[in-house]
Amino acid sequence: AATLGASAEAKGRYFGAAIAASKLGDSTYTRILKSEFTSVTAENEMKWDATEPSRGVFNYTGGDRILAQAQANGQKVRGHALAWHSQMPGWAQSLSGSTLRSAMLNHVTQVATHYKGKIHSWDVVNEAFADDGRGSRRDSSLQRTGNDWIEAAFRSARAADPAAKLCYNDYNTDGVNAKSTAVYNMVRDFKARGVPIDCVGFQSHLTNSAPGDYQANLQRFADLGVDVQITELDISGSGQAAAYAAVTKACLAVARCTGITVWGIRDSDSWRTGTNPLLFDAGGNKKAAYTSVLNAL
Ligand code: XIL
Repeated sequence: AATLGASAEAKGRYFGAAIAASKLGDSTYTRILKSEFTSVTAENEMKWDATEPSRGVFNYTGGDRILAQAQANGQKVRGHALAWHSQMPGWAQSLSGSTLRSAMLNHVTQVATHYKGKIHSWDVVNEAFADDGRGSRRDSSLQRTGNDWIEAAFRSARAADPAAKLCYNDYNTDGVNAKSTAVYNMVRDFKARGVPIDCVGFQSHLTNSAPGDYQANLQRFADLGVDVQITELDISGSGQAAAYAAVTKACLAVARCTGITVWGIRDSDSWRTGTNPLLFDAGGNKKAAYTSVLNAL
């Protein structure tokens, strides 16, 4: 097929992009968005600081614009992210303990309810594990509310939107390592105890190459009985085109890998400023990495 979205669709997968509501008036951006992608993620607009700027006061302006644009284009929407230590509003940063726990759970409930039935997969909890090489939980105010904060968030999300696939999402979990194994153990435990979890997101912010055991890592999670998704793909450095092909082929080789999302459209849209990690150049032209993905699909 001629586009990323159509080619992925032919293989039963979605191909998505993270987008910003503020760029929807850019005609180059929207042309590529409409033609190439079958799923979108709000790059920032559905995060806690954006959606609940004051406690109990919800603002869905940006998220709703992205949702409406996606629906007009016939695209699915990934929800990102309900509970995360980063991009918390100031008021929530000043809370702790049971007050923070109930504020977080209320946030999960309210946002998932607002978007009920509209989101194919939600990142319910984002980046809860540390990079200490020992698979520890990340130290955060959320973690200090009790080790069960993650499962509490998943239960609230399920109650609010039973149709959405509920994902745990993280970075540096793309190969088999201490951090990904800690996530694996959590997912295995959740499945054993009936905690509602449907999918694991692998951010895949990569440099030069994908880990050699990338596919094996996806497969071991899939074998736990969850879907896997590549949720924030961007690859900087040499070997970019080959690494994009490797990630694409790995997803296609894992039956439960349901889709790939790149974290932006053009290099100039990337949060990784100056590293040109995306599939289109600043002028909106297809890069070698684009062709590499298309050929791999
Ligand atoms: C990034 C956005 O791309 C930036 O615009 C924002 O300033 C910071 O967050 N992991 C995630 C994403 O889960 O939400 C982050 O997005 C990138 C890292």
